[in-house]
Amino acid sequence: MTATDTEPATTHEVVLEAEGLTKHFPVRRGLRSLFTRERKAVHAVDDLRLTLRRGRVTALVGESGSGKSTVARLLAQLYPRTSGDIRLHGETITVHGGRKFRAYCRQVQMIFQDPFASLNPVHTVRYHLTRALKIHGRDGKTSAELEDNLRQLLLRVQLTPPERYLDKFPHELSGGQRQRVSIARALGADPEVLLADEPVSMLDVSIRLGVLNLLRDLKERLNLAILYITHDIASARYFADETMVMYAGRLVEGGDSETVTQQPAHPYTRLLIESAPDPDRLDRVGDPKDAPEDEAGGEPPSLIAPPTGCRFHPRCIHAMPKCSTELPPRFELPVISGEGEHWAACWLYEEGAAK
Ligand SMILES: Nc1ncnc2c1ncn2[C@@H]1O[C@H](COP(=O)(O)OP(=O)(O)OP(=O)(O)O)[C@@H](O)[C@H]1O
Ligand SMILES: [Mg+2]
Repeated sequence: MTATDTEPATTHEVVLEAEGLTKHFPVRRGLRSLFTRERKAVHAVDDLRLTLRRGRVTALVGESGSGKSTVARLLAQLYPRTSGDIRLHGETITVHGGRKFRAYCRQVQMIFQDPFASLNPVHTVRYHLTRALKIHGRDGKTSAELEDNLRQLLLRVQLTPPERYLDKFPHELSGGQRQRVSIARALGADPEVLLADEPVSMLDVSIRLGVLNLLRDLKERLNLAILYITHDIASARYFADETMVMYAGRLVEGGDSETVTQQPAHPYTRLLIESAPDPDRLDRVGDPKDAPEDEAGGEPPSLIAPPTGCRFHPRCIHAMPKCSTELPPRFELPVISGEGEHWAACWLYEEGAAK
């Protein structure tokens, strides 16, 4: 019998939602701007709508600087938001530290990119995990119970036998083992949501799959909602149920992962997929059918003065006059499996637009 057989049927209930989520970082004002009313800001995230459900992985994909980590930190309530709403089980939550923050953290945990930086080098695995359990009141009444809980945490992340790892320091572990300890620490809170910010990008390619498989197993066994942040759209197809594509602070496409990666609609998503190395395409270089989506040149825009209309329009070979003036809404598109959703914020999909 598998672990999932013992669980009640997963309902994919909505746990965490963001609506209109916006984060602008003010830019330090220079001498000249002191005399003007000009207030510059980095538009890191604008009007983001996202839903995380139990038992589902949602990937957030985009290039460096597109605002992915800012989204994770906003959802973890590590930054105050400029505007918008974050709802946990339907209830709007705004916390500024203290007991409320701790209560929120019990349900929403974050895993960082660099497990070496997120574990204190002078403390053992036992210390890190005991602390997590104590903070969240899950350390048990007796030392035997605590010991058992520690063992269970390590077993959950497949560090077996647990005794071998409990008294190790971070530098005595491999990168993959350290990331597993970080995951175990997050599980110490018994959360409903894991926000994983590029959890495998600092690991050797050979062990990435193991850590992703572990997260998928946890999603199923513990019915977790996982936000998986990545540069790598190919891994989103493998690992995530839904994929959201972010460009310069805005979501541009989203939906069922299979559909978004197999039938990408937004020119930026197509560019991301084309940029991934694919040996099958090497012999077709120069074929006009494979004209790159990025003929206009490949620099992401300034987020201090982002392009008006669609933020991708200066790089888009399909750009129409409207693209530079009007922000495209989400247009619904077909889904490969017939289930789930697929949308793109691109004027190409407005009824009657030439594709
Ligand atoms: N604390 C901050 N203060 C000012 N600007 C910030 C801050 N944090 C992020 N930014 C800016 O916000 C934008 C988005 O940054 P963010 O780190 O969210 O991107 P990212 O998609 O996670 O990039 P990467 O893939 O490199 O991790 C960037 O232009 C960044 O310079
Ligand atoms: Mg980041």
